[in-house]
Amino acid sequence: MEDTQSTEKVREDFDRLADLSDEGEWDHNAHYHAFLLKQLPSRCSEALEVGCGTGVFARSLAERCERVLAVDLSPRMVEVARDRSKGHPNVEYLVADANSWEFPEERFGCVASITTLHHLPLAPTLRKMAGALRPGGTMLVLDLYRAQSPADYLFGAAGFPASKALKLAKTGGLTHRQSPALRRTWEEHGATDVYLTPAEVRDACAEAGLRGAKVRRHLLWRYSLVWRKPIR
Ligand SMILES: C[S@@+](CC[C@H](N)C(=O)[O-])C[C@H]1O[C@@H](n2cnc3c(N)ncnc32)[C@H](O)[C@@H]1O
Repeated sequence: MEDTQSTEKVREDFDRLADLSDEGEWDHNAHYHAFLLKQLPSRCSEALEVGCGTGVFARSLAERCERVLAVDLSPRMVEVARDRSKGHPNVEYLVADANSWEFPEERFGCVASITTLHHLPLAPTLRKMAGALRPGGTMLVLDLYRAQSPADYLFGAAGFPASKALKLAKTGGLTHRQSPALRRTWEEHGATDVYLTPAEVRDACAEAGLRGAKVRRHLLWRYSLVWRKPIR
């Protein structure tokens, strides 16, 4: 990852994307929010989100948890997130690089991250996220994967009609609603993104010591990782 995307470049890309972002636009990540939230117990004390972007998932977590700490590398993303979270006083935002930020030890009932971990070394970051969870807490990850096996490719192919049908159902149309500038900026950013295969994600879980982690492939080119920290 270091070869293709420096942290500085990632920060600049997301600062630009923050300024162009739309509020409330349905996207492929949002489609999986309900699935992720379903993995949590009905009550959760405090949650951490790593790479919160404009705070869409942090605000959903805030409906379920007493407090949410949401961290992001991009100062502009955090400004936009704060602005959109005025009705959620239990969310605290922090500008920090997850590579160097000191994760608090055993503090959170949930540690989540959505389409961010491909910017970070996976196994070391999972280890830090696991360390920040209280015993019994839940780790939730959603990210894009790179197809490798025939099954990955078949699954990925099925994602195209599924994406069209979902887009029609959620937005009432099939055309792009994003502004051309936003679409172009995402395309430029995505050109240097590198994703892991599902097998590499499972290896990283093993390396990070996440015994019993459930890694699932989903239709819209994403995997989820759900892990419960054992109670000692
Ligand atoms: C694709 S966006 C996803 C944002 C949000 N999770 C969502 O689902 O809308 C990835 C986010 O990760 C953040 N990010 C990338 N590298 C990071 C790092 N090293 N530390 C903290 N955040 C990072 C970016 O600034 C960006 O906001």
